[in-house]
Amino acid sequence: MTPSELLDQVRLHGAIPRHVAIIMDGNGRWARERMLPRPLGHRSGMKSVREVVEGALQAGVEFLSLFAFSQENWQRPSVEINALMSLLEEYIQREADELEAQGVRVRVLGDIDRLQGAARAAVDRVVAQTAGNRKLTLNLFISYGSRAELARAARLIAEDVAAGRLRPDEVDEAAFAQRLYTADCPDPDLLIRTSGEQRISNFLLWQLAYTELFISPVLWPDFGRSNLFEAIRDYQNRERRFGRVAV
Ligand code: FPP
Repeated sequence: MTPSELLDQVRLHGAIPRHVAIIMDGNGRWARERMLPRPLGHRSGMKSVREVVEGALQAGVEFLSLFAFSQENWQRPSVEINALMSLLEEYIQREADELEAQGVRVRVLGDIDRLQGAARAAVDRVVAQTAGNRKLTLNLFISYGSRAELARAARLIAEDVAAGRLRPDEVDEAAFAQRLYTADCPDPDLLIRTSGEQRISNFLLWQLAYTELFISPVLWPDFGRSNLFEAIRDYQNRERRFGRVAV
């Protein structure tokens, strides 16, 4: 089926997930299969980012969360870290105006104080430039780890309690969720992980409580909008019960 036939099917079945999250995996294997250096796998993965952003816009997804760089990724060799940071900067430079024109709000979530120089400047620029858009919110998770995010939320609560701004009996799920990076996003409806790996890898541990999972065997650089539409079609056939019984 062509991408537009698949899109018609997605639209026909209604129930578009409001929030799709993706663990983009398999760039390294894609490069190895072609005997290329790993950074070329990441470079090729950049066009898949463009594909899923456009696919999300076409399908009417409101929030798209991409796991682009984990806290653990800081332990990769510095050539690879530098390549990923330059790609991020290049992506923003190339796409910022287009994203702005398409109504995309870009946000960068994670410990971004660790980003330096040109990458940090590019991130700040695109976030400011697109802040007023609402058609699609693109959350780029960079220097992100979910356990660190949860520990940070607990620290913020402790500070509020210590300062008398919050009573211990007011600490509930909503108070906690408000102190996560994703405070104003609905929880993801659908999580896609590429390259066949069946792990969460410290991504959105709190927010994924009732999310539907879709594992795609496709390596990230080969993942296009048709693959996104197929994942949404699969999601549309699920029965979501949120721990309750079907009615
Ligand atoms: C995982 O593949 C992917 C990453 C660590 C980085 C994802 C980054 C991009 C797609 C580049 C551009 C991103 C943006 C937002 C512009 P891996 O290296 O772990 O692959 P492997 O498991 O096959 O080794």
